[in-house]
Amino acid sequence: MTTVLAVETSCDETAVAVVKGRQVLSSIVSSQIDLHRAYGGVVPELASRQHLETVNPAIAQALEAAGLSWAAIDGIAATVAPGLVGALLVGTMAAKTLALVLEKPFLGVHHLEGHICASYLEQPQLQPPFLCLLVSGGHTSLIHVQDQGVYKTLGQTRDDAAGEAFDKVARLMGLGYPGGPVIDRLAQTGDPTAFVLPEGKISLPQGGYHPYDSSFSGLKTAMLRLTERLAQSGPLPTADLAASFQAAVAKALSNRAIACAQDFGLKTIAVGGGVAANSGLRALLSTEAAKRNIQVLLPPLGLCTDNAAMIACAAAEHLARGRVSSLKLGVQSRMPLENVMRLYV
Ligand code: KG4
Ligand code: ZN
Repeated sequence: MTTVLAVETSCDETAVAVVKGRQVLSSIVSSQIDLHRAYGGVVPELASRQHLETVNPAIAQALEAAGLSWAAIDGIAATVAPGLVGALLVGTMAAKTLALVLEKPFLGVHHLEGHICASYLEQPQLQPPFLCLLVSGGHTSLIHVQDQGVYKTLGQTRDDAAGEAFDKVARLMGLGYPGGPVIDRLAQTGDPTAFVLPEGKISLPQGGYHPYDSSFSGLKTAMLRLTERLAQSGPLPTADLAASFQAAVAKALSNRAIACAQDFGLKTIAVGGGVAANSGLRALLSTEAAKRNIQVLLPPLGLCTDNAAMIACAAAEHLARGRVSSLKLGVQSRMPLENVMRLYV
């Protein structure tokens, strides 16, 4: 069984984990949320500096928590794309240095492939093909997982990502950052049918709608107008607004994911990314998919949000197939998931 230590520093979490095959031996996540909260979003320069301070202690802690020595580690991995370049560089340089000094293979990992592989940690028997609904702060994608490293993006957002929409709507309601968890909590006590909101369908030039793409900008604008109007007549009914907004997002994502799985004959939908933690989405997708005999995999919350165990898992899958990366591999702020195999030699 391949054992990999991985470092993830693509955004605002410094994470290090050790994974053996599809089993998590340790997973350390040091969040920077408090550091960025005052700014209402991630400040790239602050993120890099914080990663630099945290990464070495986190590596030592992950190895110790796994109860292993370096001799038991078969490969060292890091997220190399996509993400904040300065932040990615910190984790990648740390991993490459360890690989060089310890004479072990280095593997660069695509962050989104990591989110897909989180489902392997939850369900070790899972094998492609399956559909992955990836919903994070930066991405809203429906991905046809054809083989390890072979992905086809079938649907995506035309504007804001789902998590971004949660964050922006929370900000306009004055709820703070990050918005997803706050809206989710408020929605528990609200009425999801209180307000009628658009579902964000994409019209096609030839008529009809795109079956898998989505848009959240119309929904965001509708929320802005609604809050402006409601604010004139007293305190905002925040719970009802949160519940209605969450229901609209959950419906948009569930409908498209199920249509896509059905059209491509896929019997499993694996959900990943921070928004996979959303209770409204989890409930609706599970119920609707079950009616159509489609299995839904919902990893535990700690595997949905950014972590290094999912990165180590992706790397272990590639290393087990004899793939490694060059130490000359650089980091990239953007990279299509379709290019994953170019990371390996
Ligand atoms: O995957 P992730 O941790 O980071 C990346 O973007 O890669 O996702 C973060 C996003 C944020 O936008 C956050 O608001 C959202 O996930 N999120 C949620 C929930 N928990 C986190 N959105 C909706 N409901 C939640 N419970
Ligand atoms: Zn992520």
